[in-house]
Amino acid sequence: MRAIQVSEHGGPEVLRPVEVPAPAAGPGQLLVNTDAIGVNFIDTYIRTGTYPQEVPYIPGAEGTGVVAALGPEVTDFAVGDRVAWASAPGSYAEQVVVPADVAVPVPAGVDAAVAASALLQGMTAHYLIETIYKPEPGETILVHAGAGGVGLLLTQLAAARGVRVITTVSTDEKERLSREAGAAEVLRYGDDLARRVRELTDGIGVAAVYDGVGKATFDAGLDALRVRGMLVLFGAASGPVPPVDPQRLNRGGSLFLTRPTLAHYTRDRAELRWRAGDIFDAVAAGSLRVRIGARYPLAEAEQAHRDLEGRKTTGSIVLLP
Ligand SMILES: NC(=O)c1ccc[n+]([C@@H]2O[C@H](COP(=O)([O-])OP(=O)(O)OC[C@H]3O[C@@H](n4cnc5c(N)ncnc54)[C@H](OP(=O)(O)O)[C@@H]3O)[C@@H](O)[C@H]2O)c1
Repeated sequence: MRAIQVSEHGGPEVLRPVEVPAPAAGPGQLLVNTDAIGVNFIDTYIRTGTYPQEVPYIPGAEGTGVVAALGPEVTDFAVGDRVAWASAPGSYAEQVVVPADVAVPVPAGVDAAVAASALLQGMTAHYLIETIYKPEPGETILVHAGAGGVGLLLTQLAAARGVRVITTVSTDEKERLSREAGAAEVLRYGDDLARRVRELTDGIGVAAVYDGVGKATFDAGLDALRVRGMLVLFGAASGPVPPVDPQRLNRGGSLFLTRPTLAHYTRDRAELRWRAGDIFDAVAAGSLRVRIGARYPLAEAEQAHRDLEGRKTTGSIVLLP
């Protein structure tokens, strides 16, 4: 089968198309023929070696496709089922072995590109806003990278429950998309970001900051919080945040800081099915829109990573095998 392989850590050029033997499903696993593959920022951290990963490996964790074979002891799925997943390593490939306990059925009518990219970013937006800090209607929050994959979904989920969402973006086109998703105010990054957020909140600050950008936005986020506000640092698109002095949280107003990851918020099958079900139900009902900003042939994974890291993408992006 055709797949993308990384043989040494590095820039996007290390994502090379290869022919490799097709994998086989072991106990509790499904063999899936992929229809579309999700590309996520975490794929870039693993590619560069920022997150540990032995080489060679096939990147990717997310996708959708049709079950081609069942390993022993699989009871919940049948050959021919359409499934999606957000945590099956080796997903940049024509065939992927997916543990049955991370696979979820795809509702009828949901397009492959959407099914391939809704789960990882959607369940992330879900746990951020549903579990980590659940804003009340009328509260104001700040979401960085408002036109990104997670950003557009998080904004929609928050706005739908009457939360006032302020976002940051880098371009006019991204501002337009962020407003379309429900952002009440859209700001550019910059030195006076915290001051502008305070102006928009009568000097009080926001209840929570959802920050997947990291290094470039972390300080402004702390400065933009109200007393006892929460900074949810969930990514590092601009680079990792340097060590923090806990006294900073005290001075800022008894602030909370958390650095969560999706795996800890999809700890068992019940939690995964709850979050995935909420996201897929909303997508199927048309109340949550997944923007597919770009589609690339599988062999062009290199270009997909260049565009993602170069801030050229909006919404979610997918590879097509
Ligand atoms: N912890 C978790 O559970 C979890 C799960 C999923 C994703 N994440 C994190 O969430 C973040 C968003 O992920 P995503 O896949 O949806 O990506 P994305 O938001 O679609 O893409 C990243 C965006 O970050 C913004 N950005 C700001 N500074 C940047 C820089 N120096 N370089 C690159 N981009 C920069 C860009 O938007 P602008 O041009 O508008 O600034 C860019 O489009 C990532 O940090 C990812 O690691 C975390």
